[in-house]
Amino acid sequence: MILKQSYSTAWKSPSNIALVKYWGKFGRQFPSNPSISFTLSEAYSTLVMKISPADSLSCQLEFHGKRESAFEERILGFLDSIKDVYPWLERASVDMSSTNSFPHSAGIASSASAMSALALCLVDIDQQIQHQTWKDSDNFRQRSSEIARLASGSAARSVYPFLARWGISTISKKGSNDYADYAGEGIHSIFSNYKNSILILSSATKSVSSSAGHRLMKGNRFADERFKQANENLDQLLLAMCQGDMSSFIRIVEEEALTLHALMMTSNPSYILMEPQTIEAIRAIRAFREEKEIPVCFTLDAGPNIHMLYPASYSDQVDIWRDAVLRPLCEGGRIIEDHVGQGPQRITL
Ligand code: DP6
Repeated sequence: MILKQSYSTAWKSPSNIALVKYWGKFGRQFPSNPSISFTLSEAYSTLVMKISPADSLSCQLEFHGKRESAFEERILGFLDSIKDVYPWLERASVDMSSTNSFPHSAGIASSASAMSALALCLVDIDQQIQHQTWKDSDNFRQRSSEIARLASGSAARSVYPFLARWGISTISKKGSNDYADYAGEGIHSIFSNYKNSILILSSATKSVSSSAGHRLMKGNRFADERFKQANENLDQLLLAMCQGDMSSFIRIVEEEALTLHALMMTSNPSYILMEPQTIEAIRAIRAFREEKEIPVCFTLDAGPNIHMLYPASYSDQVDIWRDAVLRPLCEGGRIIEDHVGQGPQRITL
């Protein structure tokens, strides 16, 4: 199929923080275990895309107004890999301009927000090309989630508001490996507007990328046990979240974060992404929780930075303590204050 004219669109899409972690994949970006995440709000990417007829596939990307050849290469590789899905990409020039709300150097993952924004733009443009209007927005989200998955697994979850799950559960048999679903139905109100303070403990580039980390799961002797644990944790976490059972929620979320890092340490070759400040912050959060009986907990991405999670109703007390005790541990005192969000939005051009 050949493009006859240009098409354009723009989307804003948020990052997400996994509560049960996706770690290990197979085939065409299918997850080895199901995962679930809060969709964030303040940490997001925007992407403006214009597609024009051309002799072959090419792409140009400006990030905050500057040409970014490393990103450009990754995106070109991805676009090339989905020509079977969107044959019009075969002869298209793809012009993009993108921004992140959070500093690129902060060491927090941007692939979920950036790749979900990319997927939303592609699905939107494909609709325009096909003169299609989905009957409901669920269909559009599902398709966007599927395309986002092909670009970066965790991005599949970012297209939904509040809470999203991705991957088939071996226990409930619910979910799909192809795309994520909204998982916020029936969740206790204590989780609405849940807070996430992202403590930037180190902004150094990761020594091992997530993609390499996923690959190392193939030879990890704990892999099968881990996949079993994730299935059980997903089931129990959802139950805890429906019942507002904070102690189970906290136990599972922290177990997931520490298991993720334990898997890195037990990979071959082994590696450690936590820093001394990470452990110090974990200890401080646990001591504060015990002493004050406030349901605050932590999780970690594939990096040293801490995501501190707590109900909005406790934010006055938590934020005062955080600024006094945790901010001094952060690089340049940097903390990103975020909370669960409403999912992506189309930007009017
Ligand atoms: C630790 O989605 O970045 O954040 O599919 O290779 O792009 P690719 O990996 P990516 O992995 C994210 C891993 C994680 C856990 C999670 O978000 O579930």
